[in-house]
Amino acid sequence: MAIEIIGTGRAVPPKRVSNDELAAKIDTSDEWIRSHTGIGYRHIADESTACSDLGLEAAKNALAMTAGYCGDDPEERNRAASEAALTIDMIILATVSPDFYGVPSTACIVQDKLGAKKAGAMDLSAACTGFIYGLETAAGLLTVSSRRKRALVIGAETISKMINWEDRGTCVLFGDGAGAAVLEKTGAENRGILQTLLFADGSGNESLLMRRGGTRYPFKKGEVIDTSICVEMNGQEVYNFAVGAIFSTIKMLAENGNINIDDVAMIVPHQANARIINAARRRLHIPAEKFYLNIEEYANTSSASIPIALDELNRSGQIKKGDLIMTVGFGGGLTYGGNLIIW
Ligand code: UT7
Repeated sequence: MAIEIIGTGRAVPPKRVSNDELAAKIDTSDEWIRSHTGIGYRHIADESTACSDLGLEAAKNALAMTAGYCGDDPEERNRAASEAALTIDMIILATVSPDFYGVPSTACIVQDKLGAKKAGAMDLSAACTGFIYGLETAAGLLTVSSRRKRALVIGAETISKMINWEDRGTCVLFGDGAGAAVLEKTGAENRGILQTLLFADGSGNESLLMRRGGTRYPFKKGEVIDTSICVEMNGQEVYNFAVGAIFSTIKMLAENGNINIDDVAMIVPHQANARIINAARRRLHIPAEKFYLNIEEYANTSSASIPIALDELNRSGQIKKGDLIMTVGFGGGLTYGGNLIIW
């Protein structure tokens, strides 16, 4: 038995904001952002677009691919996606920027709009490691029940709505987007998700958090709120944690899987900062071309960054069936982990 990825999709909002556009509003510069992070642009959702809207589009693209449609015609795409949605047994949506807090889950909204009538649906909260956690959760759910055959895993974020746009330490870093993958339980041998590592270090929970709006610091009646619920981050702490997390996860995936890094076709890291990725890469003595980087275009899209990257690689033919792929992610919680996959 194998749990294989049989379709991928992505969606980003059309509005593309450059570093120079941000520099016209706050005290920053294209030079600082590029040299400290590798970010050039980010895509930002408009007022009427919420997390489920991007998740839905990415999911439709992934589902249509499983039905053999990868073109640009929206009607054809929707027809193929609706057909494939009926085959899905479980939907897991990873996000830190859901449509609503608590209930309903964003996954349920996507499930309804897809018409995935027989699917269970739930959200998953593991910040930027959410898609990696989601793949393993879905793989487990498919494995334990003979009734479940296919799952849809989505990473979707409209994190721009949870940013303090006056805080240059965070607002330049993030962007909106969604990515999705359809998993199928097959009879193949030595294929699909071979191994997943999931870790947490909750002692770092204050390094990256959205403080207000939950039950710890709820909004109070009569209170005047002058900022949105926004991300607060200790950049240096997260930076140091992230370099170590990438280093140890890749090393452990390779050792546990008894594989040589030379045999890995592509490592797909969470796109938080090109400097973080390069620092870990140098410690591991792995050549730059093994790491996929698209942070220049999208900035940090949290749980969406890895599935967006996988879809770009898949659709462009840069990864092919049979290739050995590693994902590695880290983020708020703190959480980290990775998957080893034969595509
Ligand atoms: O998805 C996972 C979540 N997040 C991350 O992985 C982020 C991890 N951390 C980082 O990527 C980096 O720590 C940052 C990119 C956030 C910051 O880079 P840094 O090299 O650690 O900069 P810093 O925080 O040490 O700040 C250096 C200077 C400071 O000025 P002074 O005090 O030296 O005068 C900051 O005020 O850079 C200043 N600065 C900026 N300057 C221009 C901070 N943000 C900006 C900015 N534009 N946007």
